Amino acid sequence: MTPPSTLSWLAAVLALTSPAVATSAHPKRGLVFTPNADHGKDNYIWTRPPTPLTWYYNYGASPSIVFDNLTQSAFEFVPMLWGAPSDANDTTFLTTVQGLISAGTNISHVMTFNEPDTATDYGGSNVDPTLAAKVWVSNIEPLSKAGVKVGLPACTGGWGGLPWMRQFLGNCSALISAGEKNKRNCTFDFVPLHWYGNFDGLASHVGEWAGAFPNTSLWVTEYNYDNQDLATTQSFFNSSVQLLDSWDQVERYSFFGAFRSTKSNVGANAAMLSAGGQLTDMGAWYLDRPATGVLPSSTKESSGAAALGRGWIGVVLGGVAVVALLL
Ligand SMILES: *[C@@H]1O[C@H](CO)[C@@H](O)[C@H](O)[C@H]1NC(C)=O
Ligand SMILES: *[C@@H]1O[C@H](CO)[C@@H](O)[C@H](O)[C@H]1NC(C)=O
Ligand SMILES: *[C@@H]1O[C@H](CO)[C@@H](O)[C@H](O)[C@H]1NC(C)=O
Ligand SMILES: *[C@@H]1O[C@H](CO)[C@@H](O)[C@H](O)[C@H]1NC(C)=O
Ligand SMILES: *[C@@H]1O[C@H](CO)[C@@H](O)[C@H](O)[C@H]1NC(C)=O
Ligand SMILES: *[C@@H]1O[C@H](CO)[C@@H](O)[C@H](O)[C@H]1NC(C)=O
Ligand SMILES: *[C@@H]1O[C@H](CO)[C@@H](O)[C@H](O)[C@H]1NC(C)=O
Repeated sequence: MTPPSTLSWLAAVLALTSPAVATSAHPKRGLVFTPNADHGKDNYIWTRPPTPLTWYYNYGASPSIVFDNLTQSAFEFVPMLWGAPSDANDTTFLTTVQGLISAGTNISHVMTFNEPDTATDYGGSNVDPTLAAKVWVSNIEPLSKAGVKVGLPACTGGWGGLPWMRQFLGNCSALISAGEKNKRNCTFDFVPLHWYGNFDGLASHVGEWAGAFPNTSLWVTEYNYDNQDLATTQSFFNSSVQLLDSWDQVERYSFFGAFRSTKSNVGANAAMLSAGGQLTDMGAWYLDRPATGVLPSSTKESSGAAALGRGWIGVVLGGVAVVALLL
């Protein structure tokens, strides 16, 4: 083993401490943000440096105020049109996003319709493809024309997903190319997917949609192996991040589990925070940190002191980098 040169040592320190060097070991990885109103400090866990997470969504059109003090380039917000307004000509979503863009927010992508193929009881937006197509034309087409990359509706992992999508695409095409001889598809840039189930199921579901949309980036925006024992969930977690990181057609992914085990609707072991709000092993792994050994059931509250400790290490290392530069 050759000793590192001073220059490469300096580069390593700078890479660790300089926020301008925004390189992530897992650039596809993002956050499905579900704010915790009872325990506000949980909201800051995911972005505390060092974090590999590069983007987030919150099922809504506007950024979450808890991330206001972060730079956009470090943590990109992706607006979502969750469901369909009853009036298809209601362009509230469009004007909200246009407002963000004119205010200087870097909006490069938007997502649409959360699980339109399922009932609201199951967290779906339950949108008829015909209405979805109209709402798309009034709200999403103008953004696409303005250069924002637009994601197709995010269907469930169920069998009804692809048939819903085919109807939607057919209806959308009929609307935008009405009266034209050659039918055009509504423009889209990526396809969000959801999956709850085992690893083989995830791989085959992503494969099926990769086949249906061969030239299009896929985003896996909600997934987990719900309601399993801890070892099964952790082994799924490890295999799935490896699969998604290495699958070229998968452009981004976000694991559904950034909440306390006590708030989880996908089983306690699927959560990335314990009952007391500490990172579980999976939570720590998602942030590229070593296992914490904290069980999902643990009620021990996280202490603010740990966060302060990490902050100080950053300050000390930053000081070292400045001194090294001066030399
Ligand atoms: C943003 O605010 C939160 C809460 O006050 C704080 O924990 C965090 O360190 C702040 N982040 C930055 C980059 O200032
Ligand atoms: C906006 O976000 C996109 C996607 O992350 C990025 O490629 C681009 O450089 C960002 N633009 C600015 C001005 O930060
Ligand atoms: C919605 O807009 C379309 C296209 O501009 C128009 O044909 C239609 O009448 C409008 N519908 C309503 C309910 O305003
Ligand atoms: C549009 O939607 C309707 C009702 O959902 C459906 O019956 C029809 O076949 C769709 N059209 C296309 C072109 O897919
Ligand atoms: C629209 O897109 C779908 C899915 O990629 C494709 O099967 C279909 O042929 C396209 N239709 C048109 C008119 O381009
Ligand atoms: C895109 O699709 C066309 C055929 O529809 C195919 O020839 C081409 O190789 C595809 N490109 C990529 C990058 O997959
Ligand atoms: C998951 O990966 C971590 C390292 O990222 C490793 O420590 C752990 O043993 C793995 N667990 C399983 C169940 O594969």
